[in-house]
Amino acid sequence: MRKVENVILKGNICYSQDSKNLIIEENSFLVCEDGKSAGVFREIPEKYCDFEVRDYGECLIVPGCVDLHLHAPQFAFRGFAMDLELLEWLDTVTFPEEARFSDLEYANRAYQMFADTMKKSATTRAVIFGTIHTEATICLMDWMEATGLKTYVGKVNMDQNCPEMLRESSGKSVEATKRWISRVEGAYQNVKPILTPRFIPSCSGQLLEGIADLQRQYHLPVQSHLSENPNEISWVHELYPDTQCYGEAYEKYGLFGENGNTVMAHCIYSDEKELELMKKRGVWIAHCPQSNMNLSSGIAPVRTYLERGMKIGLGTDMAAGFSESIFRAMGEAVQMSKMRWRLVDQSQPPLKLEEAFFLGTKGGGSFFGKVGSFEKGYEMDAIVLNDAKLPYPHALSVRQRLERMIYLSDDRHIQAKYVCGSQIF
Ligand code: GUN
Ligand code: FE
Repeated sequence: MRKVENVILKGNICYSQDSKNLIIEENSFLVCEDGKSAGVFREIPEKYCDFEVRDYGECLIVPGCVDLHLHAPQFAFRGFAMDLELLEWLDTVTFPEEARFSDLEYANRAYQMFADTMKKSATTRAVIFGTIHTEATICLMDWMEATGLKTYVGKVNMDQNCPEMLRESSGKSVEATKRWISRVEGAYQNVKPILTPRFIPSCSGQLLEGIADLQRQYHLPVQSHLSENPNEISWVHELYPDTQCYGEAYEKYGLFGENGNTVMAHCIYSDEKELELMKKRGVWIAHCPQSNMNLSSGIAPVRTYLERGMKIGLGTDMAAGFSESIFRAMGEAVQMSKMRWRLVDQSQPPLKLEEAFFLGTKGGGSFFGKVGSFEKGYEMDAIVLNDAKLPYPHALSVRQRLERMIYLSDDRHIQAKYVCGSQIF
């Protein structure tokens, strides 16, 4: 990784101000000082005139993408079993593959391939599930550290409704998580631990209580799944008949944003009660459109979430989503919202490109702080897109070129990638 924390990037610069406003500054200068954006300028301000300038010509320069939800151990089977639904998919392909990660040699091979793919992708930040296995999860953290991407990685907790090989007793699971935290906290520059109860059906109340204790002790964020599939939701209701919504099962144990940043994947069927609770607790939604299609989970009401000012970003949910591309997720978020408008609710207009781009950059980026934009003070994560090999018979606007890059979502067009001002390739 090349450390260049004071640098100026020149090109066609695009970034979100908010979900409605996409700023496009043609032939401009993005100034990076101490790893943060000092702003975008038409001319280089006097005080930065000794910074190194990297001229990317006609390239597009956009914030790095943020993937709020994916499973590293599932990378190996992306593109398989895409004709199943969630619970069947977990039992048939997901749990058997995750069980392999008790073998550290296998984990090492699989996670190296995963890290390699993530490094080359448009993603600069990610929130990642590992497996229940401590050593394999540390191995994943080691590989992610080497990529230069900024990530949260979680050792998964499960103590019920899963195969014997993936089950720990609640006491063992909490103990192992505690030992894992003490080994990894502060040990990396780029990787941080995140608490990861898999989802309500796979965690007993005792386990959730133990994880909540750890959260209070270590002040860590939490990631999990919420309201993804109708059968899953009925199951949660059977397990917790006294709760009015799925989210209340997490809330009952203080794991719904009360004690730290929390991201919940999917939220397709969140009702009024759940939405209010999420809003009150500041829970982030990871919208994963490709996964929701592949597992026929449903179409999340993203327009409603934006209108209500919910915290929301995009996730690939690999390998329920087969692609690691958040650009692709942006396009699919628009596509899914169009189907929802056509088939489900014509009062909710489909998403615009500006909104999808916001979700995949600044929307999800807020989970990491001031991330996902080039406004002054934001951490300078950027990717440089070179579309010169995609000819067109007349001149295209920068917005059109950006839209084309998003829809084609081909990593081979990424010419350079920066995280906090450091060039990682
Ligand atoms: N719910 C519980 N585990 C999983 C998983 O691995 N993927 C998805 N999409 N949903 C889940
Ligand atoms: Fe998931």
